[in-house]
Amino acid sequence: MAGPAVDVSVRRATPDDLAFIMAAEREPAFERLVGRWPAERHLAAMGSQDFAYLIGAPRGGEPAGFAILRDLRNPSDNIGLQRIVSAAAGQGFGRPFLTAVIGWVFAETACHRFLLEVFTDNSRARHVYRSLGFVEEGLLREAVKRPDGTRADQVLMSLLRREWPGASAATA
Ligand SMILES: CC(C)(COP(=O)(O)OP(=O)(O)OC[C@H]1O[C@@H](n2cnc3c(N)ncnc32)[C@H](O)[C@@H]1OP(=O)(O)O)[C@@H](O)C(=O)NCCC(=O)NCCS
Repeated sequence: MAGPAVDVSVRRATPDDLAFIMAAEREPAFERLVGRWPAERHLAAMGSQDFAYLIGAPRGGEPAGFAILRDLRNPSDNIGLQRIVSAAAGQGFGRPFLTAVIGWVFAETACHRFLLEVFTDNSRARHVYRSLGFVEEGLLREAVKRPDGTRADQVLMSLLRREWPGASAATA
């Protein structure tokens, strides 16, 4: 069961957040769950209009999670969740953080379809996504090659603007 809801604030990241982002995505327990980019790739993405980096924190507190959004200029308004990490996973921060991220996406962009890919064996993330309304659309068979050469399946999920309570009509 979820504990008391954490009041989460989100803001755009700056290059000063890079150390936190890179440390969080390199948490050993997350090795098979999320990608890890070198600093140059993060900085290039941060400077691109195709990406948005969001930092989440308990209101008034230190950063506790980050999210990378991609395809912000997609002509069909399909925005992708490239990566989300809750630095202290499993302690009740990730769900309210993702809730705030979704709210940001539908308030700050013309996103129609917010989509993501998740490894089939990442049951915690799939649970959180489903619980916030993301719909599983299909299996991406053997979609990712791991560093050890094995391949892993992912599930494609999406949430439509009209499915998110409180989202305004699209602005574009
Ligand atoms: C996915 C992630 C962002 C979620 O954040 P979090 O802080 O762990 O989420 P919360 O603690 O708020 O909620 C976790 C939920 O999963 C449930 N859960 C925990 N372990 C689970 C498991 N093995 N299977 C299914 N559900 C599980 C918890 O009971 C809780 O559900 P509830 O709120 O209904 O009780 C976080 O786990 C994370 O950063 N994981 C590592 C990186 C990652 O997997 N990113 C996503 C890649 S697509």
